[in-house]
Amino acid sequence: MKRKLPVDVFSDWAINGKDVGMEKNHKFSVDNMIKFSIKKLDYFTFLDAGCGNGWVVRKVSKLNKCIKSIGIDGSQKMIEKAKSIDKKNKYYCEDLLDWKPKNKIDLVHSMEVFYYFKNPKKLIKHIYSSWLKKNSRLIMGIDYYYENKISHSWPNECGISIMSLFSEKKWENFFFEVGFKEIKTWKVGETKKWRGTLVITGIK
Ligand SMILES: C[S@@+](CC[C@H](N)C(=O)[O-])C[C@H]1O[C@@H](n2cnc3c(N)ncnc32)[C@H](O)[C@@H]1O
Repeated sequence: MKRKLPVDVFSDWAINGKDVGMEKNHKFSVDNMIKFSIKKLDYFTFLDAGCGNGWVVRKVSKLNKCIKSIGIDGSQKMIEKAKSIDKKNKYYCEDLLDWKPKNKIDLVHSMEVFYYFKNPKKLIKHIYSSWLKKNSRLIMGIDYYYENKISHSWPNECGISIMSLFSEKKWENFFFEVGFKEIKTWKVGETKKWRGTLVITGIK
């Protein structure tokens, strides 16, 4: 099978409705991540990096203290879908490595996105330098990582050309090397065969 770029595969998913399955499958981990991220926040701006159809952008925008909720995704079809469902929040079709917000953000969240980059540390650094305010948070969740062996077949199954496989320690080190402080790592939804969503967060 000829492998496609991640954003092209996800445009196919937006067309055939598989984006709805992502909301169902990621909700448990995302709820855990959002609950942790907002517990000490006062009024905040929010950005979902690789927002898919925008379901997290909409969910967070409904929270009382959220003053702005933005979604970025490189898939044209995902962003078209997000905009067709939601006229209130802002969505941009951009490569995450190229985009910069006009005003820096209080909370950057990302679920199941960072391993679609050849060099995720470069993306984490870009978010640190160009997206986040000082003392603000990046939180990411991923299910594709070395210790979660069951996920190793995904690049073949999904026919995706870029999927970078790293260990938990390596992912955590990216956050350290970029300069994040108060780094925390945990798993959500771990079972015997499924190692759970690897969540890593840090403060700029
Ligand atoms: C597995 S989906 C997750 C979507 C969403 N976070 C969710 O949980 O439903 C990964 C998303 O990352 C986006 N993506 C992958 N590479 C990207 C890039 N270089 N720039 C922007 N978005 C990208 C894809 O288009 C896709 O929507």
